[in-house]
Amino acid sequence: MAEPGESLVTEARADLEGVETRPRLEETKARYFGPKGAFTALRKQIGSLPKEEKPAFGQRLNALKAELEAVFAEAEEAVREREFTERLGPPEDPTLSSPDPPRGPLHPLTQTRERIVSIFRRLGFSVVEGTDVETAFHCFDALNTPPDHPARDLQDTYYLRSGSEVDNVRREGSGDPYLLRTHTSSTQIRTMLAHSPPLRILSPGRCFRRDTADATHSANFHQIEGLLVDRQVSVRDLKAVLDHFVRELLGPDARTRFRPHFFPYTEPSFEVDFSSEHLGKVGAPWIEIMGCGMVDPAVFEAVGYDPAEVSGFAFGLGIERIAMYLHGIDDIRLFYQNDERFLRQFA
Ligand code: DAH
Repeated sequence: MAEPGESLVTEARADLEGVETRPRLEETKARYFGPKGAFTALRKQIGSLPKEEKPAFGQRLNALKAELEAVFAEAEEAVREREFTERLGPPEDPTLSSPDPPRGPLHPLTQTRERIVSIFRRLGFSVVEGTDVETAFHCFDALNTPPDHPARDLQDTYYLRSGSEVDNVRREGSGDPYLLRTHTSSTQIRTMLAHSPPLRILSPGRCFRRDTADATHSANFHQIEGLLVDRQVSVRDLKAVLDHFVRELLGPDARTRFRPHFFPYTEPSFEVDFSSEHLGKVGAPWIEIMGCGMVDPAVFEAVGYDPAEVSGFAFGLGIERIAMYLHGIDDIRLFYQNDERFLRQFA
């Protein structure tokens, strides 16, 4: 004789096939254990059995119940797991690196700076960094720029409040006011005070002037300063280096013109103009690109070099201005607006 309820476990397994949600699970469970359930019906039979058969039947029921409960527990575990992953969303591996965000191009000013720096690196110049906050000594006095020079005027220069303390900027004297540097030439002084000749340095950096912003002016802009100090350096060396630079930057057809000028820290001083066929669209036939000259003996004296022993040249150029010529940009403010439509053009 077949054991009572023998097929129940197999049936329950079949019923639970494809049951994925809790309501369906409960519904299926009720078909076995509910008031009208199959197992409940089986248990009720015990009442109508002869007394001597009851214990064996009871044992049989207990075993069957345990088996059925195990089957339902397994199904419930699967449903629980399903509910859990549904709450978590699709599977993810948190140990994987995040997908790379799209890469932007280098800022056009960075690109221009790197281009200029790489030309001078090949001539043996190394890059040094100055500080944005300067002292009047490094920015003006040591550069032979007297107290009544207009560059030092409140109208041109951002001074820090007297009594300000700037930890990483060395002062020469207690009366030496801090300011935001108006040019990178101050790095010449810092470098010469810290090192002995010979020197070949290039110093890119941020500069500040009290300018009202328009298409060609910005209160914050960038320059690159150059300085070479050695023995018996002449204007010929200066011209050879800058001619080479301009041709490397603008192409072999570019020409230069040196115009006498005045800077307090160089003697003689020049402004350098360039002319280039393929950059002809900028308007004038000659365009000013930088200032330069032979380092003034007064500057050497200010840093403790002997002007009878050493000589050298210095130059300074604006990065924005060069980037504007190179790319035909007509408004300096475009560099600072972080407009992706502008920046993407330099990819
Ligand atoms: N400092 C000048 C400026 O801000 C640029 C300059 C001119 C730098 C002549 C020099 C130089 O080193 O010799 O316009």
